Amino acid sequence: MANPSLLILPGDGIGPEVMQEVRRVITWFGDKRGLAFDITEDLVGGAAYDAHGTPLHDDTMAKALEVDAVLLGAVGGPKYDNLDFSVKPERGLLRLRKEMDLFSNLRPAQCFDALADFSSLKTELVSGLDIMIVRELTSGVYFGEPRGIFEEGNERVGINTQRYTESEIDRVARSAFELARRRNNKVCSMEKANVMESGILWREVVQKVHDEDYPDVELSHMYADNGAMQLVRAPKQFDVILTDNLFGDILSDCAAMLTGSLGMLPSASLGAPNADGRPKALYEPVHGSAPDITGQGKANPIACILSFAMALRYSFDQGDEATRLETAIEKVLADGARTADLMGEAGGTPISTTEMSDAILSALDASL
Ligand code: IPM
Ligand code: MG
Repeated sequence: MANPSLLILPGDGIGPEVMQEVRRVITWFGDKRGLAFDITEDLVGGAAYDAHGTPLHDDTMAKALEVDAVLLGAVGGPKYDNLDFSVKPERGLLRLRKEMDLFSNLRPAQCFDALADFSSLKTELVSGLDIMIVRELTSGVYFGEPRGIFEEGNERVGINTQRYTESEIDRVARSAFELARRRNNKVCSMEKANVMESGILWREVVQKVHDEDYPDVELSHMYADNGAMQLVRAPKQFDVILTDNLFGDILSDCAAMLTGSLGMLPSASLGAPNADGRPKALYEPVHGSAPDITGQGKANPIACILSFAMALRYSFDQGDEATRLETAIEKVLADGARTADLMGEAGGTPISTTEMSDAILSALDASL
């Protein structure tokens, strides 16, 4: 049988640096665990714009639709700030999400014991934290029509449209309930049903899917503003949070920061299963391109490496190997390995991007 295929899109900023370390980890799994992948690499974001004048070339889009999973680094940077909206680096990422139909975005916010002190919240509020945000990723105000900047009388008006169909809500709700069953069996759905019709429909459909097919899962609803407040007040009350595209963007950054460093958090964006049962999938760290530290060997590769762990689990049915990788990372953190983003007030000398993955590879060797 052919090896499973991966398309690697390092992108911009620290994307290429962290992805280089992920490739070493992938090679380790090929050499030591017999998990070989056929890898192709291509451009996305500003890097693609520089080469082709577009943030995602059609050939790259076609490849992304063919492979078993895509791994993406990061897109964007100040160099591209003044580009026309239609060719901004972010458009490349949004096109991938839309055309691959990756409607379910899984963003875990997990607090590593060794890093509990790093949170801006009190340690006892975050130690042991393990939340999964399920963000709808292909609809809502990110894609709704009409959109644009229009002339109206003697001034301009900027318009975006929040739009959700029942089937769009239905399918992402199902993915959240399925996930909850494999965790602590609780879903909290967040919208603004007090002011938005799309929120009213969201709440109705989520409740209906629950009552018909997932009555065993504990479901609650919350207005998203209260949700944001609860996330910083008592985050451990949550297991799975289900929410729309824009609220999910905001709430997931908030949840991410609870864990102390954005440099630690992976994500998976999943579509409907193919004939072989594998979902269309894209994995990427939650952190951005971090132009301020690009090229200095300071970036933390853990979020991107953990994104590969999610690929092992959700695309390749290798949950045990994903756990092996996550455990290795926990071990190096417990042993005190710290990149610059993890130095905190105590200070000390940070290790480099490559030294962090050296440590992870040694911990993987020790796990055999
Ligand atoms: C994210 C990012 C993206 C988003 C940007 C880069 C388009 O903030 O993945 O959370 O808004 O979805
Ligand atoms: Mg975001």
